[in-house]
Amino acid sequence: MEQYIIEGGTPLVGEVVIGGAKNAALGILAAAIMTDGQCMIDNMPNVRDTNVLLQAMEGIGARVVRKGDNEVLISGKCIDSSGELLVDNEYIRKIRASYYLIGALLGKYKKAKAALPGGCDIGSRPIDQHIKGFRALGADVRIEHGMIMAEAEELRGSHIYLDVVSVGATINIMMAASLAIGNTIIENAAKEPHIVDVANFLNSMGANIKGAGTDVIRIKGVEKFHDTEYSIIPDQIEAGTFMMAAAATRGDVLIRNVIPKHLEAISAKLNEIGAVVEEWDDAVRVAATRRLKHTQIKTLPYPGFPTDMQPQIAVTLGLSKGTSIITESIFENRFRYVDEMRRMGANIKVVDGNTAIISGVERYTGATVETPDLRAGAALVIAGLAAEGYTTVNNIGYIQRGYERFDEKLRGLGGMIEKVDSEREANKYIYKTGTVD
Ligand code: EPZ
Repeated sequence: MEQYIIEGGTPLVGEVVIGGAKNAALGILAAAIMTDGQCMIDNMPNVRDTNVLLQAMEGIGARVVRKGDNEVLISGKCIDSSGELLVDNEYIRKIRASYYLIGALLGKYKKAKAALPGGCDIGSRPIDQHIKGFRALGADVRIEHGMIMAEAEELRGSHIYLDVVSVGATINIMMAASLAIGNTIIENAAKEPHIVDVANFLNSMGANIKGAGTDVIRIKGVEKFHDTEYSIIPDQIEAGTFMMAAAATRGDVLIRNVIPKHLEAISAKLNEIGAVVEEWDDAVRVAATRRLKHTQIKTLPYPGFPTDMQPQIAVTLGLSKGTSIITESIFENRFRYVDEMRRMGANIKVVDGNTAIISGVERYTGATVETPDLRAGAALVIAGLAAEGYTTVNNIGYIQRGYERFDEKLRGLGGMIEKVDSEREANKYIYKTGTVD
């Protein structure tokens, strides 16, 4: 099983280039099958989640041609709509976001079938709002034997009020509604940058979607989509992760290929705790020369502080002066990294299941830690880079779901990190880099 072995204590310094947004790419790639034309998509992150989704798309007959690590040509023309259009459980089990193919297939072929996604590491993650939206558009949605089946003679626009602000439901409903007859309004819609990117992609194929990025999205159904070429926006969470890594290691990093507006909540918090944050059109610089201060955070839907940045700022605050409080309001099980952080000397207590009380400590010490989920894994790497001594991070497959060339990019900033696949290799790294006592 692959691991990261990290020798901590080196401030990260230099420049890093951010890749395409994973959570925009998953919606955009699924939506690309909705045209019989060709979609040329670039700035696609080459990570496990996007690669698994592309396999799922090939599994239903879509044409997928990789034009390089970060560019792909997709066409839905070859999909055999006379079949049952089943999204195989293998793919739904590997990545929940395969469920975006339900909205895409329902929109285009008026039918779709997929295994119901289970819960995951950070919460139960129901899809009742997705189902509510499909039914409002006129689809018959049944759940039988762990499968979700959606079918409609035709889809007609509707006025849909989401009970919960849901990124996935907003994207799935937007896709299905874009080829429905008539107008759809989605109220209480999610406003994340990746919602806007999926809407812009759909519009580039000929959809008529307005208001994405606000909590009311208006969609005029169209007959069919055409070819498009599209470039995915930079990943707000990858950028935020490197911003926190710079702060936690007291480094000085220029993070390039970002949209600063998408990072406002993260930059504001870093400023508040004493880091220096400078912004340019497509770059941000984060520097921290002295120990940071405590703060309070509540994770919220965009433009609030993103839940996907919660573990990363928690490990940064774990080294700050004073006591910080983090309330996780989106997912019910997103503090599983806290037990691992205690092994590194962190003083974090989780109360009521969704609030972490973080008493800052002077230093972390390296340890062997287990990755519980994608963003927690990135946070444990940040902690290892800031710690004294060696840290081994296990189960890094989680991290590779959402970060492309993560260890390579960190080494480019002076981070002492290697990907190894055995204890022996880990010991070799320690021997090679170990300081002679
Ligand atoms: C997306 O998940 C992201 N994943 C998550 O990022 C991110 O944490 C989340 O949005 C919130 O920003 C992708 O985009 C692939 P939600 P999603 O539907 O769509 C509840 C990462 O690290 N809910 O916005 O599944 C749900 O339980 C991942 O990249 C319902 O109750 O999140 C949660 O409490 C982790 N019913 C809240 O809404 C529903 O039908 C927000 O979930 C749907 C959601």
